[in-house]
Amino acid sequence: MTAEAPARVPIPRQAPGALPLLGHGLAMRRRRLELLEEVQGLDGDGLVALRLGAARMLVATDHRLVRELLVRRADDFGPSPQYRLMEPVTGAGLLLSEGAFHRRQRRLIRPAFRHARVRHYADLMTELAQGWTDGLRDGEVVAVDEEFGSLATTVVVRSLFGQGISDADAGGVVTAMTDVMAWVGARGADPLPALMSRLPTQVNRRFARSARSLHTLVDTLIARRRADSGEPPDDVLTWLLGTTDAETGERMSDAQVHDEVMTLLTAGAETTSRTLAWCLYLLARNPDAEERLHAEVDRVLGGRAAGFDDLAELPYTRRVLTETLRLYPSGYLLSRAARRDTELGAYPVAAGTTVLFSPYALHRDPRLFRAPDAFRPDRWLPERAGEVTPDAFLPFGLGQHGCLGEGFAWTEMTIALATLATRWRLRPLHPAPVAPTPLFSLSSGRMPMRARRRGEDRAGGRA
Ligand code: HEM
Repeated sequence: MTAEAPARVPIPRQAPGALPLLGHGLAMRRRRLELLEEVQGLDGDGLVALRLGAARMLVATDHRLVRELLVRRADDFGPSPQYRLMEPVTGAGLLLSEGAFHRRQRRLIRPAFRHARVRHYADLMTELAQGWTDGLRDGEVVAVDEEFGSLATTVVVRSLFGQGISDADAGGVVTAMTDVMAWVGARGADPLPALMSRLPTQVNRRFARSARSLHTLVDTLIARRRADSGEPPDDVLTWLLGTTDAETGERMSDAQVHDEVMTLLTAGAETTSRTLAWCLYLLARNPDAEERLHAEVDRVLGGRAAGFDDLAELPYTRRVLTETLRLYPSGYLLSRAARRDTELGAYPVAAGTTVLFSPYALHRDPRLFRAPDAFRPDRWLPERAGEVTPDAFLPFGLGQHGCLGEGFAWTEMTIALATLATRWRLRPLHPAPVAPTPLFSLSSGRMPMRARRRGEDRAGGRA
C-alpha cells in the first residue's frame, strides 16, 4: 500500500522586481501606485506576495478575495501595523479597534450618521458651501486642495461641536489638522516609519505641536460640554456623550469619546476634500461632462445653493462623483493583519501577516471596468451595467470597518459640487496632467485653479 501524497499548499506568486534586502520597499515608496497597478495586472489566483525589507505581505488582487477578507473572515483580521501608525492621533477609535469592543463602538456611533441625522447636518453643509462660493471672485486663483480641505474640516468640526466651539478654535482645528494629516501621510510613505517619526524633521515638529493642541482642545470641549447643565445642542458630540449601548447599558468614557472625535476628524475631512479636488480636475479635462453637470444644476437649482431635498434630483452630479471615486479613491490602499492563522481563497495566511488591497488598482483593472482610464460618469447608469463590476467598486471599503460616514460624505460632496457648479467653472492654472501623490489619501497637490463666473451660458441665468 502506498502512502497518500500530502496535499500541496499553494504559495502566492511573488511580485517581480524585488531588490536584495529592500525587496519592493523602494518601489513602494517611489512609485507606489504604479507598483500596485503592476501587481494588480499579474495573472494568478488573486493573491500576490510583496517583500518590504524583511516583512512579507500579501496583496489581494481579486475582488472576491477582498470581500472574503473584509466580510466572511473579518473576525480573523485586525488593523495592520500601517494603520497602527495613526495611534498617536486616533487612539482606540473605530479605525484601530477590533472584535467585540469595535462592534460596540459601531453600535453606539452609527445612529449619529443615519439618514435623518445627515439631513440635519445638510443645512450646515449648504450654508458653508454657499459661504465659500459667495466668497469667490471672478478671475481669482484658488488652491483647490487647501480650499476644500478647509471647507470639509469645518463641516466635520461644526457637525461635531455645533456652536460649542468658537470660530477661532474651529479655525485652529482646521490648521492643526493640516499638520496632523501631513504627518499621517508622510508616515504612510516611509519605509521605516517608526524611526522616521522620531527624527526632528519639520513635519514631525509641526505634528507634535498641532497634535498636542488638538488633543487639549478636544478634551476641553468635552469637559465643557459635560459641565454644561443647559439644553444640549443637537450635534455629534452630544450624541457621543449621551448614547447608551442597548445590549450592555454602557456609555463611552470621555477618553473614548475623545478618540472617536479624533477618528472622525481624521477619516472625515481629507477623504471628502480630496475627492472634490479631483472632481474639479476631471471636469476641467472633460468639458462635455462639465456641460451636462451645469445643465443639471441649472435645471434643478436655477442658481441657488443645493440642499438635502435636491439630492435625489441630481443623479448626474452623483455619477460624476462616483466616477471620481473610481479613478481617485481617497482610500487607495487599505490593509489588515491576520489575528490568527487563517485562509484566503485556497491560500493559508499565517497569524501576523499583513494583507493589502488597493481600490485604486482594482478600479483601474480593465477586467473589471471597461476603458478604465476614461472618465465616463454614464458607465454608472443601470442600463450600462456591463461596463462595471459593482462588487469591485470599493471606495468606502466594506464590512465591519466600512465607512461610517458614507451618507454624510455623499451629501456633503453633492451639495458642495452642485452649489459651486451653479455659478463657477474652475480651470487648472497649469494644463499638464496631475499625477496623484499617495499619502494618507490620494493628493492632487495644491492644484491652483482659476475661478470663472458662469453667466451667459446658464439657461435663464444671471450675469
Ligand atoms: C469621500 C469621502 C470618504 C471616503 C472615500 C471614505 C472612505 C473610507 C474607507 C475606505 C473606510 C474603510 C477603511 C478600512 O476598511 O480600512 C472608511 C472608514 C471610516 N470612515 Fe470614511 N470615507 C469618507 C468620508 C467619511 C466621512 C465624511 C466620515 C465621517 C464624518 C467618515 C468616517 C469614517 C469612519 C469613522 C471610518 C472607520 C469605520 C470603522 O473602522 O469602523 N468617512 N472610510
